[in-house]
Amino acid sequence: MTPVVPSICVLISGNGSNLQAIIDAIATGKLEAKIACVISNRTDAYGLTRAEMAGIPAHTLDHNAFDDRENYDYALKELIDRYHPDCVVLAGFMRILTADLVNHYAGKMFNIHPSLLPKYKGLHTHKQAIENGDTEHGVSVHFVTPELDGGPVVIQSRVPVFEDDSEVELAARVQEQERQIYPLVLQWFCSGRLVMHENNAIMDGQRLPLSGYASE
Ligand code: GAR
Repeated sequence: MTPVVPSICVLISGNGSNLQAIIDAIATGKLEAKIACVISNRTDAYGLTRAEMAGIPAHTLDHNAFDDRENYDYALKELIDRYHPDCVVLAGFMRILTADLVNHYAGKMFNIHPSLLPKYKGLHTHKQAIENGDTEHGVSVHFVTPELDGGPVVIQSRVPVFEDDSEVELAARVQEQERQIYPLVLQWFCSGRLVMHENNAIMDGQRLPLSGYASE
């Protein structure tokens, strides 16, 4: 019998470098999964081209065509559910999601956020790290819960902040780490090692610390 490979739906808004990392990890066998579809809320997202080049069904669901967040998220849910994914991956999807949508995918939706959460939720994280004189910055992968950037952290990766760093330089350093850790987390999830239980990230049956796997 052919083994069932977990399927992932990836949501993007832009460049799609994280999407590419996931595509590449699947191609090299580091991630045993398949991408069922890619959905963008922006027509000009380069990630759509990456999806097409990889032969993955790609959709644009433009938020400008909807009156409000509730209607958009309802349509988004319908589109995602056509593919019955095991996992929904926010990879630079720059929208705040309704609690309804998030709760519908409880325990199987992930986000990557460019900060060491709970520090710097929301936007402009690299700018804030530089302006505050932080010597360390980084990225977190977490389960998505209705609290914005507030779900249980699975892993963080840290990078140094140098005195003369620009936002662009710091973002590039962080994104290099993003491309390593997101496929890794997805492999943990797809292989059944990682679950969310009572708002905790559980890995191999053990509750992960608040800052996730890397802090052990
Ligand atoms: C990534 O750096 C990701 O951490 C960030 O958007 C970028 C998307 O890049 N996400 C957020 O800021 C979410 N709040 P990509 O399109 O090249 O993957």
